[in-house]
Amino acid sequence: MRGQDCFGRIARRPAWVLAIFTFVLFVGPAAIAQMVPALSGPDEAMEEIPAAPIPKWIVDDIRRMRAYPDQPPVIPHSIEGYQLSVNANRCLSCHKREFTQGSGAPMISVTHYMTREGQMLADVSPRRYFCTACHVPQADVRPLVDNKFKDMSELGFKPAGSE
Ligand code: HEC
Ligand code: HEC
Repeated sequence: MRGQDCFGRIARRPAWVLAIFTFVLFVGPAAIAQMVPALSGPDEAMEEIPAAPIPKWIVDDIRRMRAYPDQPPVIPHSIEGYQLSVNANRCLSCHKREFTQGSGAPMISVTHYMTREGQMLADVSPRRYFCTACHVPQADVRPLVDNKFKDMSELGFKPAGSE
């Protein structure tokens, strides 16, 4: 059988080839994993670790500033139990153009109606159908790493209309 031939060939190689093979496959990744500290801090060995409390969602309905113009805005309301499947899209029942007058929700922007060739469709484009691939709610948690992000308006250019 071809598979056996293949293993036979590896087995006949000198030992150092097998040693390198084993290192790359098992020891290397394990060593790298050891070097990266766990973001949540070290766990006690052989102890039972209490589960961290489930964080609270931020559901204050205040639309958050975007960190840059193209950012998909984060969701400022609860989406608990909203169905989002091939057959039903709860998000669109408020955010679609036809429903925004009744719901008071901001309309999905014009880009959501475009195909990737830039052609406008009558309905939301399939590539924008699964909203939560890009838009996410926020939870009230401590960041695991410091955020050194700088807004581009702080990077030293003269903003339009500032004189
Ligand atoms: C019952 C109506 C309703 C449904 C359903 C709904 N939304 Fe909203 N959404 C709103 C309203 C109203 C706002 C404006 C802010 C607020 O009042 O929370 C909003 C705000 C947003 C925003 C912020 C827009 C911005 O410019 O900051 C996003 C993103 C969003 N919703 C995404 C979603 C997604 C994704 C879903 C489905 C998982 C969804 N919404 C379902 C009514 C709805
Ligand atoms: C592929 C990523 C992606 C998907 C999927 C997506 N969006 Fe967006 N959305 C964005 C981006 C990026 C922006 C901001 C730039 C823009 O308007 O295109 C945005 C903007 C918005 C806004 C703000 C519009 C405005 O004019 O202020 C709303 C509301 C919104 N999306 C709702 C939705 C809903 C509801 C769905 C699901 C039907 C959805 N989005 C699917 C990426 C996405």
